[in-house]
Amino acid sequence: MPKDVIVACDFPSAAETLAFLDRFGEEKPFVKIGMELFYAEGPQIVRTLKERGHRIFLDLKLHDIPNTVKKAMRVLSSLDVDIVNLHAAGTRAMMTAALEGLTRPDGTRPLLIAVTQLTSTDQTAMEEELLIEKPLEEVVMAYARNAAAAGLDGVVCSPLEAGRVHESCGESFLTVTPGVRFADAGKDDQKRITTPAGARALGSDYIVVGRPITRAEDPVAAWKRCREEFLA
Ligand code: C5P
Repeated sequence: MPKDVIVACDFPSAAETLAFLDRFGEEKPFVKIGMELFYAEGPQIVRTLKERGHRIFLDLKLHDIPNTVKKAMRVLSSLDVDIVNLHAAGTRAMMTAALEGLTRPDGTRPLLIAVTQLTSTDQTAMEEELLIEKPLEEVVMAYARNAAAAGLDGVVCSPLEAGRVHESCGESFLTVTPGVRFADAGKDDQKRITTPAGARALGSDYIVVGRPITRAEDPVAAWKRCREEFLA
């Protein structure tokens, strides 16, 4: 799939999500559905957005024993989403099982990407709570390589890590990156941020953008600006 901007639809209900997307008229942004919306509305919200012509990244971050994840992925695969994800911390065995579950009888499947370390986990928490005594960036890269070895299509990472991930796992290994802000805007709670143009320069394949679009006075204009800067 070509590079694109993915709009994080972090809304609590289908009604709010559809009202937001109605503003785009005939334009059909690539959207991300996360846990909040999926748990509130169930698979029907995915079907509705698919019927409306959106491409969908279903961000449910699965993490369980391989057999459970395999069966869950089989269900998600039938929803015909474009990208799904899981935690690389579930091990290569879990990632391999996930791919098996995701692959349809005709051999097609959604793209599968892995979360490495959450950006909310810092070096201290990793060392003191998870007992992982390595530099965070080394851990992120090791998890990315595990995901590539298991046959996954890419990772969710910071745009600042996209270059190293490509170097280590190959140019075609996807980097899907949140933490994007316009140059003239605030950061919200994001810390390590880049602009859409910066993410392009750093080699991100997809940028995930929430509040700069969802909370903009004119979301359609903000989405268009984001695409112009990222895809230029
Ligand atoms: O509003 P904002 O642009 O910060 O939204 C970014 C989206 O990307 C949110 O849905 C957030 O949960 C998600 N995300 C993130 N950082 C990660 C993984 C996902 O911000 N490491």
